This record gives sequence, structure tokens and C-alpha cells, in this order.
Amino acid sequence: MRPNWVEINLQELEQNIRQIRRYLDLHGKRRSTISAVVKADAYGHGAEMVAASALRAGADSLSVAFLEEALVLRERGLDAPIMVLGWTPPDMAAAAVDSDVTLTIVSPEHGRAVARELGKCGRRARVHLKVETGMGRLGIPCDQRGLRWAEEMNCLDELQMEGAFTHFSVADEDVAFTREQIRRFRRFARDLKRRGVNLSAVHACNSAGVLDFPEAALDVIRPGLMLYGVYPTEQTSRSVPVRPFLTWKSRIAQIKTVAPGDGISYGRTFIADAATRIATVPCGYADGYPRGLSNRGEVLVQGRRCRIAGRVCMDQLMLVIPPDLDGVEAGTEVTLLGRDGEEEITVEELAEAMNTIAHEIFTGIAKRVPREFRRGERVIARSEVLHF
Ligand SMILES: Cc1ncc(COP(=O)(O)O)c(C=O)c1O
Repeated sequence: MRPNWVEINLQELEQNIRQIRRYLDLHGKRRSTISAVVKADAYGHGAEMVAASALRAGADSLSVAFLEEALVLRERGLDAPIMVLGWTPPDMAAAAVDSDVTLTIVSPEHGRAVARELGKCGRRARVHLKVETGMGRLGIPCDQRGLRWAEEMNCLDELQMEGAFTHFSVADEDVAFTREQIRRFRRFARDLKRRGVNLSAVHACNSAGVLDFPEAALDVIRPGLMLYGVYPTEQTSRSVPVRPFLTWKSRIAQIKTVAPGDGISYGRTFIADAATRIATVPCGYADGYPRGLSNRGEVLVQGRRCRIAGRVCMDQLMLVIPPDLDGVEAGTEVTLLGRDGEEEITVEELAEAMNTIAHEIFTGIAKRVPREFRRGERVIARSEVLHF
């Protein structure tokens, strides 16, 4: 295997799912189902294996961003309900029906066009209606016009309307605004019911919603980040104990001692001020390790933090190895993300250093970094090394 890889401990994922289930039950939400958000290759963790494990541990369905993500999971043999959260071009709706994938209708024009396309081939799609309550992204308005459109969509023979959902924009930072989104959405769902539109799956909660607004766990919840053991922000409540389970590792390719005045990497932005041991690691920004961490990031070697020296290259980066760290040589394992002994580099730490969020760091880990799936210490599968 390439000496730059990610280890995924599926046992921990399953534990996270069980904790979420437990939390729902404790909050009187026994009937709420869990749709595991496995879009973007399960936030970089490997969608096929993560989806299968999540379902085994108690998730009821899967959510992805676009149709092809769902079709890949079907090809790999996953037969659980799958919902596409984003927009599906109308001419692809028939493919969704053929693979029993649920679509999201984002506007009346979209719904009509999907129905027209399906009418041509005599098919009927399961759909959920996206309702705009404050995200400003996709969906029909949460007002009288929206209600009329929802009724219209419900009357189209080609659309089997099973659900409606909204998405929170600030559930991790603004309680009042999120409460208002919940209020609007509940009212909208109630009004729909009064108009005879009966939906079995009304849903709103992402991870921050689940953690801080359990009352808004309606028929379904859509946790993403928390499945992967990470809390959306410092402020979000730790009401469900989840743990991360992705470790990114590599091995030292070369170690040498440079003299005072020697420069390291492109631009010579690091100049040794004394004799310094420098280790070269075959991991770079093309693997998803942020170039912005040049001269700033840290990597664990034998459980010790070692600073990156100079610029992160496309395929390699260099580390300063402290003089008292013995036994470091070519082949020694390093940890770019995750725990080694007492030390841990967290995804939050990398995200903060890059002024971004954990989602971006996880999804940035490139496909050319092989994934090794484990159950505790036992390796159960490996992804292909290269996906071209
Ligand atoms: C519609 C929708 N629901 C749920 C999620 C999961 O969000 P999170 O990863 O914050 O739990 C996302 C992710 O962006 C989303 O777009």
C-alpha cells in the first residue's frame, strides 16, 4: 500500500450511530429515523463501507448530494432507501426511479419538469419537497404560495410525494434564528396536512440540529459530521458522545541533518538556524494536506508534535525532528491527523489553522490516498490505491 494512507475504524462509527439512536430514544424520539449523510464519499471516509456499517449499526436510510453518488452505492449492492438532497436534472429522474432513489424537488418548475420527463416513460418517482426557511439555497418558500405549489406537486401523478424537509443555516450559532426556522417549518408541515397533503417523512435536523434542538428531530434526522465523530463548533452541545475514527498516516522517506543556513523546500521559506534533522514525508497538497500549513502545521512522530519546515509541496512535506527524539529513520510512521500515544492532531485543529471547517478538511483528503478499513485492529478492506 502507498505509504500515505487513511485508517477508518468502523467500530467507532457504529458506536457513534448507536449513541445517536440512544439519544433519540432518551428524548422520546423513538419514531425518528436516522438518515446517515454519506455524501462526498462519506465526508472522505469511504461511502460504501461507511454506509454499510452505519446501516448495520442502526441507521435507517442514506442521504447523498447528487444522483450519481446514490447510483454508485446501488452498484455496490446497498439496497437501503437513499435520498438525493440536492437538485437532480429532470432528464436524470428516470434513472433515479430505476434505481429506487428518492429525489428532492427544489421548486415548482423543477417538479413540473421532472414530472414531464417521467411522464414520457411512464415512471413515478418518490420525492421529498425542499422547503426554504432561512438557508437561502434551495426550496419552495414557506408561505401561502409555497403551500399552493406543494399541493400542485402532490397532485402530479408522476411524483409520489413522501416527505418535505428544510435545512438549518445557523443551528450551531444562533438559537433564536434556528427556533424561528423550526417554527416556520412545523407550521408549514401542519398547514400541508390540513390541506390533505399527508407526508410520512418531515425532517430538518443536521448534526447541530440534533445536538442542540432534539425537539426538532421529526420523522427523520440527517446527521453528517457527527457520524464522523466531530462536533460542528466549539459551542455546539456535546449531548451525544461521539468520537472521530479517521487517522491519516504516512512514513518518513528520508531523514538528514542540514547545516545552519540551509533552506528547505520551494521558496526557501525555512532556513535552518542550527544543525537540524529534517524528515521528508510523501504527503502533499495533492493528497489534500493543506499547503496553507506550510511552516505552521504539526505532524506526530512517535507521539511528539513536529513542525512542518518550509512549504508543503504537491507530493511531499518536510518536518523538523527534535534532537532528543531517538529512533526516527526512513520508514518511521507519522500521523498527519489523529492520535499517536498521548498526542492528537484533530480535524478541528487543522480546520481552525486553515480558517475553515472540519467538513472541508475531511472531504479534501484526495482519492489517491488509500483508505484502510478496520474493525479495531483487524483490517477488513482496502480501497483502490488510485482512482483515475
Ligand atoms: C441538506 C443537508 N442535510 C444534512 C446535512 C448534514 O450536515 P452536517 O454534516 O452538518 O451534519 C447536510 C450537509 O451539508 C445537508 O446539506
